[in-house]
Amino acid sequence: MSDTTPLGPAEGKLGVLTPGMGAVSTTFISGVLAARKGYAEPIGSVSQMSHIRLGKRTDDRNPLIKDFAPLASLDDLEFGGWDPYSDDAYTAAMKAGVLDARQLEGIGEELRSIRPMSAVFSPRWVKNLTDVDQVKSESGNHMDSAEKLMEDIDRFRGEKQLDRLVAVWCGSTESYEEPSDVHLDLESFEQGLKDNHESITPSQIYAYACLKMGVPFANGAPNLTVDIPAMLELSAQEGVPIAGKDFKTGQTLMKTMIAPGLKARMLGINGWFSTNILGNRDGEVLDDPGSFRSKEVSKLGVLEHILQPDVYPDLYGDIYHKVRINYYPPKGDDKEGWDHIDIFGWLGYQMQIKVDFLCKDSILAAPIVLDLALFMDLAARAGKSGVQEWLSFYFKSPQTAAGLYPENDLFIQSTKLKNNLRDMMGEELITHLGTEYYEG
Ligand SMILES: NC(=O)c1ccc[n+]([C@@H]2O[C@H](COP(=O)([O-])OP(=O)(O)OC[C@H]3O[C@@H](n4cnc5c(N)ncnc54)[C@H](O)[C@@H]3O)[C@@H](O)[C@H]2O)c1
Repeated sequence: MSDTTPLGPAEGKLGVLTPGMGAVSTTFISGVLAARKGYAEPIGSVSQMSHIRLGKRTDDRNPLIKDFAPLASLDDLEFGGWDPYSDDAYTAAMKAGVLDARQLEGIGEELRSIRPMSAVFSPRWVKNLTDVDQVKSESGNHMDSAEKLMEDIDRFRGEKQLDRLVAVWCGSTESYEEPSDVHLDLESFEQGLKDNHESITPSQIYAYACLKMGVPFANGAPNLTVDIPAMLELSAQEGVPIAGKDFKTGQTLMKTMIAPGLKARMLGINGWFSTNILGNRDGEVLDDPGSFRSKEVSKLGVLEHILQPDVYPDLYGDIYHKVRINYYPPKGDDKEGWDHIDIFGWLGYQMQIKVDFLCKDSILAAPIVLDLALFMDLAARAGKSGVQEWLSFYFKSPQTAAGLYPENDLFIQSTKLKNNLRDMMGEELITHLGTEYYEG
């Protein structure tokens, strides 16, 4: 159990900044506004809907997480962000086409008042967005850009009279890039910002600005962003939490539910073919091979870490895992994900599982943004800094300490999340041992 004193209530307003105000961000904001007005339930949000058991099963203590942990209330959230398109949140939500127009009308006034700030953006990193209309001048260096972002954060804080801030990256997926020398420590990174180093991405400039301002930063895309040693150093130096990467929605969510089940029953897998068609802007960006590579790396790691082929070579040593994403405009945000899984059982007999998941990507991602914002704020108030592994539940490719493999099994992640909340609140951890009910 943690020896820290239990956290006090969340006082005042929490600003939620999303760099990137497209489909996911505007679906998240719209949902919170709708829930606030009582038009809808925040379905899919663990922080709002899930209960947490405390003590023994016979104790009958099972509060909602939001009543147990002192999370910021939905009424105390203020929304802001950046985007290279100047559309206000209402227009962006209409263009994204996730939520229906009548539903948006009920919260139209609030949405129209949310306008993205001009972005730090470079087409080098996101190739398929060509007609952008508000980008910060690139006349200075990356450090100047970071400073402009810090001024934005300060202005937003003042205008909205915020007590605290968090940031969740909801921007497009940037092209794949291995970490290089400039990412290896903070000194090199800061020098790289001043030298306009070509391997520093816009998302890293945002993350730098946020962490410098003491704003926790969670990364919803597969780009490395805060998953580099320089950012770890900065988050420790500033005492700020970080988390990433890549929201766990759609096909990977399914994968991390099904694979642990098959493994728990020691059923073998020799092939897993996953393909998707989707037609939103995210799909368009992922049509670029560089951006797709970031996604592919993030998606492929999941099975390997769950199945541990080195520990179970007979069951998973020979697995053929392939992931495809196809941009198909008529689908819009209604993604279709097919999985074809070749499994084998007793005496090696072959079986097949087919999954056809007709999902809505942003509907699955929006509650993740909400939970991350509230839990990252909680973590900061609990004095935590660095990687928040307990939030790996929300990510396709959870960030961990160097040399540590990530835990991808959704059910272990869920237990981890709840035990961390219990720990933060000075409650006993639940081991599921169960023997206490049978002792005389
Ligand atoms: N929808 C999901 O289920 C899901 C799941 C996992 C990850 N993601 C990731 O979340 C991110 C957002 O997804 P989306 O569906 O909202 O995409 P989207 O294309 O609708 O929105 C992304 C927004 O980011 C903006 N943007 C691009 N570069 C930027 C920059 N440098 N600064 C500020 N804004 C920038 C774009 O203009 C766009 O409006 C993507 O990276 C996506 O891969 C989404």
